[in-house]
Amino acid sequence: MTATITSIAHYLPEEVIDNHYFESFLDTSDEWIKTRTGISERRFAKDGATSDLIVPAAEECIRKRGISKDEIDCVIVATVTPDHFFPNTAAVVQHKLGLKNAWGFDISAACSGFVFALATASSFVNSGLAKKVLLCGADKMTSILNINDRNQAVLFGDGAGVCIIEKSNDDNMGVIDQILHIDGFGGQYLHMVAGGSFKPSSHETVDNLEHYIYQDGQNVFKNAVVGMADVSAEIMEKNNLKSDDVAYLVPHQANLRIISATANRMGVGMDKVMVNIDKYGNTTAATIPICLSEWNDAGKLKKGDNLVLASFGAGFTWGSVLLRWNLND
Ligand code: UT7
Repeated sequence: MTATITSIAHYLPEEVIDNHYFESFLDTSDEWIKTRTGISERRFAKDGATSDLIVPAAEECIRKRGISKDEIDCVIVATVTPDHFFPNTAAVVQHKLGLKNAWGFDISAACSGFVFALATASSFVNSGLAKKVLLCGADKMTSILNINDRNQAVLFGDGAGVCIIEKSNDDNMGVIDQILHIDGFGGQYLHMVAGGSFKPSSHETVDNLEHYIYQDGQNVFKNAVVGMADVSAEIMEKNNLKSDDVAYLVPHQANLRIISATANRMGVGMDKVMVNIDKYGNTTAATIPICLSEWNDAGKLKKGDNLVLASFGAGFTWGSVLLRWNLND
């Protein structure tokens, strides 16, 4: 038995911020941002919380599947920008959507959030613990972004991707395999210092700008290039896949250079890599489901396509899922 994605949708805020916007108040340039990251623009949500990014995508996802909201029995939200510490964002989403038969929770695994949550949802469906999981990958990165720091301001954006996970009608389709990793050694290079029990919020933490992202870009970059490339190559080898067998690499969108290095290691040409970092920047837990949703909407995915999902992010967390595309239709 396998579990599969039976519907998918995404939501992006309307406000488009191009690279030139930053040139007016930061020592940066369109040229630097494009060549070092691959980003041209990103979307910033003017107001609302992460759940407000999820709700429109979830409404569309459920509508596309043609089921009643009452059939959703579990909600999982992967995010590092929850509406609140508690209740979890899954509860907020459940309430806003009126999913009266669901239970749920949040997963905090940063950029690997969607990959970890997909593996979790899939095992729930396989075990019978849930039948129809509403799986959301969403982040309002602008809520933790220091807009005055050029090392981070230009990198991130807001967005959400939502899918439904159910039993596949074909055991050879859906989530075929996964390889997942965590190593807390990486915490020193990418974290938010304050606001948790380690360093509760105070005037001092606000004055010290400790509620924003802290990222040592170079160290994250070095580890990401190795981690994402290794895990993608490993899942191919484990499943006897040659590069020709892969329809698409679906990488987390943090930096085009990390994406290219991963594709290169897999022996896959860039024409077989989902890339939208140019339009949306890094939306953390949302990058992979937004890619899948866009490629699906564009009619570029067909039944049986082998998709290698790959992520690397704070923790460090990293992993890969082999997804054989099948919307059950
Ligand atoms: O999704 C979560 C995981 N995160 C990642 O995977 C991100 C991984 N890291 C990266 O993508 C890259 O390290 C960055 C895009 C963050 C930075 O690129 P880089 O090529 O590693 O640059 P760098 O950090 O080595 O900085 C090179 C120079 C520095 O100036 P000096 O010290 O050489 O004078 C930076 O201050 O570039 C400077 N710099 C900028 N210059 C213009 C950093 N940000 C900017 C900027 N505009 N926005």
